[in-house]
Amino acid sequence: MPEYFVVRGTVESGDKRGRELGFPTANIALRDQDGSLGDGVWAGWVRRADGTHVPAAISVGRRPTYYGADGYRLLEAHLLDFTGDLYGETLAVWLGTHLRQQEKYASAEDLITALKNDIAAATQWTAGHPAASLPAPGESPLGEVRRVAG
Ligand SMILES: Cc1cc2nc3c(=O)[nH]c(=O)nc-3n(C[C@H](O)[C@H](O)[C@H](O)COP(=O)(O)O)c2cc1C
Repeated sequence: MPEYFVVRGTVESGDKRGRELGFPTANIALRDQDGSLGDGVWAGWVRRADGTHVPAAISVGRRPTYYGADGYRLLEAHLLDFTGDLYGETLAVWLGTHLRQQEKYASAEDLITALKNDIAAATQWTAGHPAASLPAPGESPLGEVRRVAG
């Protein structure tokens, strides 16, 4: 029985570094700053306001490469093969499979190498777990993490 973490949230503006790195992200604030969902990187799905689903590589954490351990904890989804503006849109995000821990990288180049691997893994995982098989996200408050059985 697969299990998902699901978060709904409205996309906030990030510090635009993702775009500079070549990997823009939709940033969502988390309410459970100390909750059951640990920091890490996942493969999963994003559902847009118009109901379409987009595969994603998703980071939960404090971006230790840039902010040390004291950074603000947030969810960042990099949507695969997607260009467009998501700012202000309310998304549902399914975290499907845990790929790795958050790491503090020595350079932007090292982070980019890791992101490329994450994207390859997320492409593979979403191909085997189509959006039609996702459980309903429920109606939890924005930013709250729920555990949902698949
Ligand atoms: C799939 C994925 C994995 C990530 N992994 C890490 C990581 O291991 N360490 C880290 O410091 N930041 C990680 N990040 C966050 C990036 O540092 C962040 O997206 C970048 O700094 C851009 O931030 P911004 O959206 O606020 O501009 C990851 C982001 C994504 C999308």
